[in-house]
Amino acid sequence: MFKLAFYDEADYTDLQYDLDKGQASFTSTFSQAFERTKNSPQDSAYVISVLKNDIPTGFFVLDFGEDKYELSDNPKCVLFRSFSINPNFQGQGLGKKAVMKTDDFLQKYFPDCDEIVLAVNERNIPAKQLYLKCGYQFDGKMRLITNGRQYILSKKIKF
Ligand SMILES: CC(C)(COP(=O)(O)OP(=O)(O)OC[C@H]1O[C@@H](n2cnc3c(N)ncnc32)[C@H](O)[C@@H]1OP(=O)(O)O)[C@@H](O)C(=O)NCCC(=O)NCCS
Repeated sequence: MFKLAFYDEADYTDLQYDLDKGQASFTSTFSQAFERTKNSPQDSAYVISVLKNDIPTGFFVLDFGEDKYELSDNPKCVLFRSFSINPNFQGQGLGKKAVMKTDDFLQKYFPDCDEIVLAVNERNIPAKQLYLKCGYQFDGKMRLITNGRQYILSKKIKF
């Protein structure tokens, strides 16, 4: 069974997977994401575990802090970041399910949130395709960071 859940300490070991160099350049490791979340103002960012049959197979961060304003002016939006699926579980549809189920998760736990925003590297074709298939839209906005150009994508949450 597929589920999204707030990160639990018991998930730690399973989330210590490595991505190959190419994929790693597009996202953060669990430890990096967890540290950044821990150092964020209280209740501004949360690590979410992607569970298959209760096994942690990936994670992402829902970030309600100031960084989202680099992508959007909407105070009610959330920044979806640091997303990955363990390579041993990639290609099974888990990434797509995680992105699709994030809307319900937000509705349940963060009902004030009305939009999800994210940035994806222009070279990261699989991730970009995934987001577009899941209803994210590109309205022409891009940004340049040290790692290259990123598309800014967003999705309004319909409750
Ligand atoms: C992006 C990522 C999360 C996808 O996870 P996943 O579980 O393998 O994805 P899914 O199996 O659900 O595939 C979903 C869609 O992704 C796209 N996709 C996946 N692999 C692809 C590939 N090699 N080439 C093109 N598109 C691909 C397809 O559109 C696919 O949809 P389809 O099955 O209908 O064809 C995973 O590849 C990953 O962890 N990548 C490294 C980190 C990363 O890039 N994170 C995103 C940062 S913005």
